[in-house]
Amino acid sequence: MADSHAKMTQATPQEVIISILAGLFAPLLAIFLIVQLVLGIQDNHQPDATDEAAEQATLNRIKPFATLVALDANAPKVEKSGQEVYDAVCTSCHAAGALGAPKFDNKGDWGPRIAKGYDTLVKHAIEGINQMPARGGDGDLSDVEVARAVAYMANSAGANFKAPEPAAAAAPAAAGAATVAKGDPAKGKAVYDAHCSACHAAGVAGAPKFGDKASWDKRIAQGYDTLLSHATKGIGAMPPKGGADISDADLADAVAYLYVEGGGKL
Ligand code: HEC
Ligand code: HEC
Repeated sequence: MADSHAKMTQATPQEVIISILAGLFAPLLAIFLIVQLVLGIQDNHQPDATDEAAEQATLNRIKPFATLVALDANAPKVEKSGQEVYDAVCTSCHAAGALGAPKFDNKGDWGPRIAKGYDTLVKHAIEGINQMPARGGDGDLSDVEVARAVAYMANSAGANFKAPEPAAAAAPAAAGAATVAKGDPAKGKAVYDAHCSACHAAGVAGAPKFGDKASWDKRIAQGYDTLLSHATKGIGAMPPKGGADISDADLADAVAYLYVEGGGKL
């Protein structure tokens, strides 16, 4: 009787604790499961909610890649500076003078080579010479990049070479020059009479006089393209396009007319 009573009083606190834990745990478990279920449903359904949402989700997922591809495909190659090329490619031999390479910053090594002239050095660097591999062994380097690295190295050792401008900057100018054909002097007469004669007939404001070889000689020596460019942008007291509202083609014709009548040959 005493035993069973003792057992009963011993068991009671455990039962109480278990029932409290169970009482707490069961609802917590239920809540946890419900939350999981809801999250699961949301996860499954969100992307498929509409075609548009799914498409947007896909676009968002591939966006970084798509951007990368677009950059690679469309971006013009950014020409590296001479120092960048040197640091990446040329330094491996030219820093310490490996294989007999002229050392960076070493006037004794570079003096005789600088004396060959920039163009020769660039040519040798592009084509390779003796132990020096073509383009320093990096076939991806453009001519401009190699030329810049040559200037960077030679200038470190006392030269004063001017590295070429980026090809990107030169290209539009070249394209422009190619598309603007030389003007037609025959068509230029009418344009001249209407827009240029005011100054050029009598030589107003120091304008070179029409047909006067003495005042055109030096100007013609600059070449037609330069004259056209000056006439387009204006020069000294000559306003852009002579202040006339005419097309580039008309201006080119008028310049051609002035040029030929001034003694130039197109
Ligand atoms: C694998 C080693 C090596 C690398 C890399 C290298 N060079 Fe050279 N370079 C040489 C050697 C060796 C010479 C001397 C060649 C000779 O005149 O016999 C030399 C010579 C030159 C000369 C002088 C050419 C002349 O006509 O006197 C130039 C300019 C030059 N290198 C530019 C470069 C540039 C620019 C790079 C990086 C794009 C580069 N080198 C990378 C080994 C290298
Ligand atoms: C308002 C006066 C004026 C008008 C209008 C004018 N010019 Fe001129 N032009 C000048 C003067 C001044 C110069 C000399 C500028 C200088 O070299 O300082 C000149 C120079 C030039 C030159 C030589 C540029 C050079 O580099 O030497 C050309 C080519 C030329 N003009 C073409 C034209 C044409 C084509 C027209 C008509 C569309 C025109 N000009 C209308 C005043 C004029």
